[in-house]
Formats: sequence, C-alpha cells, structure tokens
Amino acid sequence: MHVKELLSLKEKVVLITGGEGKYGRCLTEGLAEADAKVITASPFLDEGEKVAAMFRERGLDVEAAFVDQADHESILKLKEELKDKHGRLDVLVNCAVARPVKGYNGTLEQWKLSMDINATGLFDITREMADLMAQGGGGSIVNIASMMGMFGPDLTNYEGLPEKWKDQSADYFFHKGGMLTLTRYLARMLGDKNIRVNAISPGGIFAGQPERFVENYTKKVPVGRLANNDDIKGPVVFLASQASAYINGENILMDGGMHA
Ligand SMILES: NC(=O)c1ccc[n+]([C@@H]2O[C@H](COP(=O)([O-])OP(=O)(O)OC[C@H]3O[C@@H](n4cnc5c(N)ncnc54)[C@H](O)[C@@H]3O)[C@@H](O)[C@H]2O)c1
Repeated sequence: MHVKELLSLKEKVVLITGGEGKYGRCLTEGLAEADAKVITASPFLDEGEKVAAMFRERGLDVEAAFVDQADHESILKLKEELKDKHGRLDVLVNCAVARPVKGYNGTLEQWKLSMDINATGLFDITREMADLMAQGGGGSIVNIASMMGMFGPDLTNYEGLPEKWKDQSADYFFHKGGMLTLTRYLARMLGDKNIRVNAISPGGIFAGQPERFVENYTKKVPVGRLANNDDIKGPVVFLASQASAYINGENILMDGGMHA
C-alpha cells in the first residue's frame, strides 16, 4: 500500500474525549486533517460545539457530543449514538483529564473524584468503545498519557515562581503511570479482536505559561522549546492509522529529548 494511503484516515470514525482542550484541539485538528470524521466528547458540550464549528468552517469533519467519563450511563448513551449515527467506531483517543486534587495535601474526596474520572472512567469508556470497535472488525486506541506518568515532578522547573507551583498533585502521576500499564494490558487482551492499543506521553505544551517557567523548562530540552500545536498531530495520526499496523502496546515519549 502507498504510504500516503497507509497514513490516511479517510472514512475512519474517530472518537476523542476532551477534544476541545489544549492538546485535544491539536489532536482533533490533526486527525480531521488526515480526513477522519472526528467526534469530540466531553461534559462541556457548548465548548465542544464551538470548537467543532470552528473546524467545520475550515472544511474539517468534526462534531461534538456529550459524555461524562465518570458516568457509566452517559458512556452507554454515547456508544448507542455512535452506533446509530455512524454504524461503527475505528479509533478511540483517550485525551480527557480532570485535575480536581489540590496539591500534596488535597483531600481524599478530591482523590476519589479524580479516580472516578481518570481511572475508573478511563477503563469504562475504553472497554465500551472497544466493544463497538470489535463489532466493526477492529481499530486503534491511542491513550494520551504524559511524561509525568514516567518520571516524578522536576521541581526545579518552578524555581523563581510562587511556591504553589511546586505543590504538584499525586493523582496525576498515579493515573498517568497507570494509563501506560493499562495500554500494555489492553494491547494483549484486545489483540484477538484486531484492536491495537498504544500511548503517547507528551511533555508540556506551550500555553502562555510564565516566562520564568518557560526559561527553566526549555533549557533542559535539547530542541530548546515546549511542545507546539503541531507536534502531537503526526504521532496520533501515525498510531491511529494503518501506518502503525504492527505497533501494539507501545508508548511514544514526546518530550523534545528532555529525558534522552
Ligand atoms: N497540557 C500539557 O502540557 C500536557 C502535558 C502532557 C500530557 N498532557 C495530557 O494531554 C491530555 C489533555 O490535557 P490538556 O492539558 O490539554 O487538558 P485540558 O484541561 O485542556 O483538557 C482536558 C479535557 O478533558 C475533558 N474532561 C474533563 N472532565 C471530563 C469528564 N468527566 N469526562 C470527559 N471529558 C472530561 C475536558 O472537557 C477537557 O476538554 C491529558 O491526557 C493530559 O494528561 C497534557
């Protein structure tokens, strides 16, 4: 097959959770530019609709849907909607994240809420959508993890900033690390359904952070910058497409060489 064909997502139905967020928009854009039909789902439907409309104005095939990853019923409803409207699902990109825990001393209630969304909800939506994918003959799941699921917090990034910046929350490191193990588990469990499961572990994306943070951070990155809006498009299209057909259970660390 021609390499352009291998990388094309033409006629593929892609669900991305949290596709209107910071990295989510870049992922949605890249997937739609590769000719996929992209459905972005989150509890913030108005925001999702706005982002989808913005992409449609550019000729991209993007629509918004509602899902609250912590609510099993809403996941089942979305699964039904996808089946009724599109008849299939080819790709799931797990990008949603909630950050309810407030620092090291955050409450256990905050921790439980985080796990409901980021751990239990992640598994719930993945299992349901994998079932839909299997009904159509298979597909690809891409989990958006983080370099923080592989390494502890580098507190020197926050030197010269207010102390609260150093007060990193433990839940994020816990569930992002878990996402990588879940990726490998699912890669083995879903292989016989022709579903591949891979992860991307990005570093920080530039989103107007304070100058001092950018300075502290970028001097550790061989390519000398934070991630930009294009950086994640290639990796996600690659993992979603047939171009990566023999890659399963893998994690791409996308940090500009920070941990090389
Ligand atoms: N921002 C970064 O620098 C960075 C770095 C590394 C990895 N990541 C990863 O990228 C992904 C997106 O992060 P971001 O910083 O763009 O986040 P963001 O806060 O901008 O977006 C998070 C998205 O999750 C959705 N969401 C929240 N609660 C939800 C729920 N209950 N159900 C469904 N969706 C829900 C929101 O609608 C939002 O669109 C995350 O997986 C994160 O771990 C981000």
